[in-house]
Amino acid sequence: MNIILLGAPGAGKGTQAKLIVEKYGIPQISTGDMLREAVEKGTELGKKAKVYMERGELVPDDIVIGIVKERLSEDDCKRGYILDGFPRTIKQAEALDEILLSMSSKIDAVINISVSEEEIIRRIVFRRVCRRCGAVYNLIYNPPKQGDICDRCGGELYQRDDDKEEVVRERLKAYKEQTQPLKDYYSKKGILYNIDGAKKIDEIFEDIQKILENLKD
Ligand code: AP5
Repeated sequence: MNIILLGAPGAGKGTQAKLIVEKYGIPQISTGDMLREAVEKGTELGKKAKVYMERGELVPDDIVIGIVKERLSEDDCKRGYILDGFPRTIKQAEALDEILLSMSSKIDAVINISVSEEEIIRRIVFRRVCRRCGAVYNLIYNPPKQGDICDRCGGELYQRDDDKEEVVRERLKAYKEQTQPLKDYYSKKGILYNIDGAKKIDEIFEDIQKILENLKD
């Protein structure tokens, strides 16, 4: 099962990806997480990416395509995967088509999670992430039980640098201009599924499971 999760920043892609990982045992490939890890480690890739990420802009296509290509060739992707945050431009989508063609593989479903802009700002500004295990919380909707400590692993919770409101507005702009056209791209291929992201986390997951169960037939 090869899936793409599409949606604006803060739509809930990462939250749903983690639930899919737990239930279906396929890996989450989050370009955002991979880039943040590179920034944290101070690698050459990280140094390049940091400049764009801090401004809320997309990292250049060639950089991102390279890291996804490498990741897809790893063994744990053989049984399927969830692409979270990739592709984000038409160029990335076309590159992905080429990569998959060369692997005699294909995407089975593109799940587009829609949420209003107002709600997105609320979700992102109140988001906290565990530094150790990557679990995602929201101080309003799914708060941790104890202050800034992760319920799952006891790690420290932090706010992403790009989750400040002015950067979020730039990320939303990049989404509208560069990522939204992908809805049309995948709709024409007949593999786009739209999901109402305004619902509760478990209700959205139920909707996603219905789509995924049908893919198995
Ligand atoms: P990335 O890390 O991919 O960020 P994003 O797409 O902006 O998405 P987010 O991680 O912000 O949100 P999400 O949809 O995963 O929401 P979440 O589940 O956390 O990218 C960051 C940057 O890296 C980009 O700006 C760019 O610079 C670069 N980059 C990454 N990929 C790239 C690419 N392919 N090309 C070029 N550049 C790239 O949920 C958000 C909050 O809401 C959480 O607090 C959560 O608890 C809460 N929540 C989730 N669902 C619900 C719900 N149903 N109800 C209430 N609250 C909810």
